[in-house]
Amino acid sequence: MNEKTNIILIGFMGSGKTSVGKYLAKKTGYDFKDTDEMIEDKQKSSIQSIFASKGEKYFRKLETKTLENLNGKLNHTILSTGGGLPITEGNGALLRQLGQVIFLRAEKATIKNRLAGDKSRPLLAGDDQDDKMEALLKFRTPIYETVANIIIHTDQKSLNEIAQEIIDKL
Ligand code: S3P
Repeated sequence: MNEKTNIILIGFMGSGKTSVGKYLAKKTGYDFKDTDEMIEDKQKSSIQSIFASKGEKYFRKLETKTLENLNGKLNHTILSTGGGLPITEGNGALLRQLGQVIFLRAEKATIKNRLAGDKSRPLLAGDDQDDKMEALLKFRTPIYETVANIIIHTDQKSLNEIAQEIIDKL
């Protein structure tokens, strides 16, 4: 693993970006950052409140601004990103400037399991969670694939197996 490389984790909600990222940070001694957390800290507000009061478009601008602000400043870091962040035009290029982009791929059934009972994702709130997930996955998956340098299949794998696979592929 190249010591100078930042590792950028992308993927759908519930694909394990945060847990894999934190685990990988411990294993490698890298720092860990999360774009959602950075936005919440800066706005002093939760993602849910930002969506509710300012809307998704505003949130997407905050995501892009967060990436722009990180440019040139990220070092020895694992960056976990919000599931919709790579979808905004231009963000893919910004992500690739920051480091090696890794798409944590998970099947819908795995994601559904991981998000069962979760109320924190505004885009999946309300009825028809399954349909919403299906549509978003269909639209986003090819974009994640295009933006990523490396794709890791995470279904039925432990955190350690996923982390090791990432290290081996870098
Ligand atoms: C979103 C994913 C969330 C968060 C926001 C929007 C999305 O992050 O950024 O709710 O559009 O997929 P996680 O992927 O960490 O759940």
